[in-house]
Amino acid sequence: MTIYLDNHATTRVDPVVVGAMLAFMDSHYANPGSTTHEAGREAGRLVAEASRETAQFLNAEEDEILFTSGATESNNLALFGVALHPKQNRRRIVTSLAEHRATLDPLMRLERHGFEIVRLPVFPNGHPLAGGVDLNHLAECVNENTALVTLMLANNEIGTIQPIGEISSLCKRFDVPLHTDASQAVGRIPVDVQELGVDLLSFSAHKFYGPKGIGGLFVRQSPSAVRLYPQILGGGQQGNLRSGTLNSAGIIGLAKALAVCLDRMHQESRELNRLRNLLWELLNQEIFGLSRNGPALETNLLPNNLNVCFPKVDGQSLMLQTPDLAVSSGSACTSAEPHPSHVLLALGLSEDQSRASLRFGLGRFNTEEEIRQVAKLLGRAHASLVSFAA
Ligand SMILES: Cc1ncc(COP(=O)(O)O)c(C=O)c1O
Repeated sequence: MTIYLDNHATTRVDPVVVGAMLAFMDSHYANPGSTTHEAGREAGRLVAEASRETAQFLNAEEDEILFTSGATESNNLALFGVALHPKQNRRRIVTSLAEHRATLDPLMRLERHGFEIVRLPVFPNGHPLAGGVDLNHLAECVNENTALVTLMLANNEIGTIQPIGEISSLCKRFDVPLHTDASQAVGRIPVDVQELGVDLLSFSAHKFYGPKGIGGLFVRQSPSAVRLYPQILGGGQQGNLRSGTLNSAGIIGLAKALAVCLDRMHQESRELNRLRNLLWELLNQEIFGLSRNGPALETNLLPNNLNVCFPKVDGQSLMLQTPDLAVSSGSACTSAEPHPSHVLLALGLSEDQSRASLRFGLGRFNTEEEIRQVAKLLGRAHASLVSFAA
């Protein structure tokens, strides 16, 4: 049986969410945009209710949530939508070297369109906020020519939680909109768009025990509305900002998943924190010379994240030796590539250290028994690889 510790890549859909989606799909298959018959209107009402709930969970207004296919699309819409708006006359976008590819790649394209992309370095390993940006440095780069600042709320590889509230105060001084990719944060830590002060916020249901293929973008409407240039044109759904028939069952699943997360957040994050710390402790008992990548354990770190550099072996070999264990080296979306993780390199790790690192993402369905087993499995695998190499 696989022990699944790759919850940053995706999570198992909670059975409660599956139940809610199945019930919805069974009876409410009409297009939620069809207003000519009651079946469509009823589907539309249920989707609107789920949308209201989603907005409420984030402390947003219903008309501030756009549903997308996931955080990749949300990030693309936020970045291209702001940058390519016909009234946009600013040319600089500020980001960091530790962002997800779903941010960095659209920015690379905007760079080819003539935008100036400022990629801030991040605090190195060993710093309490390793992986986060230096606000003084950020302040030097934000000016009246800045169209957007985009910085993630929580890092998908090393779990760094950034002080987005402070960053938004800084952006407001220059009247610069702030986008945050909150994919790894929503459902795991409290996310309140008013407290964060962000203008745009991306999230994705499959990161919080919801289905894949559905996510959202919060787009602030007040006190001033963010101007977004739509990227998908068609039937004019969602106020023309993102056309396409709504993924109604996905939206029902997303709202249900979020409701379950919020219900359990306090207790769940305490338990994940405990299991994560236990894993770190047990791994250290099994293997000598480990080091941890990322911010301080107690602060600024997602409760379910552990990123570990193993001595004398590479992560790929360790994974091959532990076929019953689902973890990842680097981010899931780039793990098919042989390149070392750009996030770990940005922390100051060498290519070898980066390749010797594994990311553990704990989740709701993990047990203490599994964590104990994982430490033993890795201890054995590491010892056999080291003795083979000797
Ligand atoms: C921080 C971050 N942003 C964006 C994405 C992409 O999300 P999605 O799979 O919903 O497109 C991921 C998923 O790996 C992520 O972790």
